[in-house]
Amino acid sequence: MSRCIKALPPFYGPCHELTMASQVLTCLEDFEKRAKEILPKTVFDYYRSGADGEQTLRDNLAAYSRWRLRPRVLRDVSKVSTSVQVLGAQLVSPVAVGATGFHCMAHPEGELASARACAASGTLMMQDQDATEQLVRRAERAGYTALVLTVDTPYVGRRLDDVRNRFVLPSHLRLCNFKEDDTIHGVGPTQNDSAFALFVKQSLNPSLAWEHVHWLRSITSLPIILKGILTAEDAREAVNYGVDGILVSNHGARQLDGVLSTLDALPEVVAAVSGRIEVYIDGGVQRGTDVLKALALGAQAVFIGRPVLWGLAVNGENGVRQVLELLQDELSLAMAFSGCRTVKEITPDLLTRTSYL
Ligand SMILES: Cc1cc2nc3c(=O)[nH]c(=O)nc-3n(C[C@H](O)[C@H](O)[C@H](O)COP(=O)(O)O)c2cc1C
Repeated sequence: MSRCIKALPPFYGPCHELTMASQVLTCLEDFEKRAKEILPKTVFDYYRSGADGEQTLRDNLAAYSRWRLRPRVLRDVSKVSTSVQVLGAQLVSPVAVGATGFHCMAHPEGELASARACAASGTLMMQDQDATEQLVRRAERAGYTALVLTVDTPYVGRRLDDVRNRFVLPSHLRLCNFKEDDTIHGVGPTQNDSAFALFVKQSLNPSLAWEHVHWLRSITSLPIILKGILTAEDAREAVNYGVDGILVSNHGARQLDGVLSTLDALPEVVAAVSGRIEVYIDGGVQRGTDVLKALALGAQAVFIGRPVLWGLAVNGENGVRQVLELLQDELSLAMAFSGCRTVKEITPDLLTRTSYL
């Protein structure tokens, strides 16, 4: 069921082609290692970094080790389906692509390549949308089937590598959905902030509040998903404001360092909404068994951020496809080993919390 993937010649730098062309990539960590070899350091650091001391970045990964699987046997797993429904749409896999900016730094085809890979793999891709009526209307016209409102970014987190690297976006990149696009290249770094962080600070709205969710609900009939909720209290508010889904996320640990890992936050959010709306998760997902654990704790779908960027850097659209297929194969195998033939059969009793970590 699982597959090994041969890396194709990389997009960046001819020297890598010689040394790396025959490397076999067996798991998502291999893709990250390979991307690190290919990408300019400033770009790799921008993608990889978490905020401040990166406690939460480490914990997003470690949280998956705190749960162990309790497999059931003798269940005829000759056929396993990883298919799920998300907001009424049938997906081949519960693994989908999250919103991460600037795919063009990883590969010239950028977001287009990632979106094509999603389509080919039968899953969906999230695009970041500013909550303005104009953008909403454009999304509606373009046939988008849901809006995602990121709610954990009143300010931008401090990613120390970006400060150290004095990170600036390559001059050919544009923020096509924003009018003030050009200012992004007019901001210089300071002692404490990268130029990029300064630009983002200028464009964010720290007064974003529940009334904006109410407003958004009133101007569109598209399903709304709030991205960045970590507590039962906010999950209940979200239900009260009529949203259709919650993405339990800490922004890939790039905002408030020290917040709890998303896997640790998931059970209380799932309990608080008690089936009234859909709940998804992102952050630190590296393996099929991670996806399995998140589903067992009540997530309906799982989004991945950085692994997509690593796939894109390694091999463009095909690299993203390989990442998605690898995770799906790993999930399928883990389901079979656990005695789960369908995603519905993945239930909380599949897990036990370890006491030895
Ligand atoms: C390079 C990068 C850029 C991101 N840009 C955005 C963004 O523009 N909007 C947003 O809501 N989340 C953004 N995120 C957060 C992701 O949507 C997602 O929450 C996170 O990457 C999931 O964690 P993972 O990378 O461990 O899979 C970004 C994450 C990364 C790594």
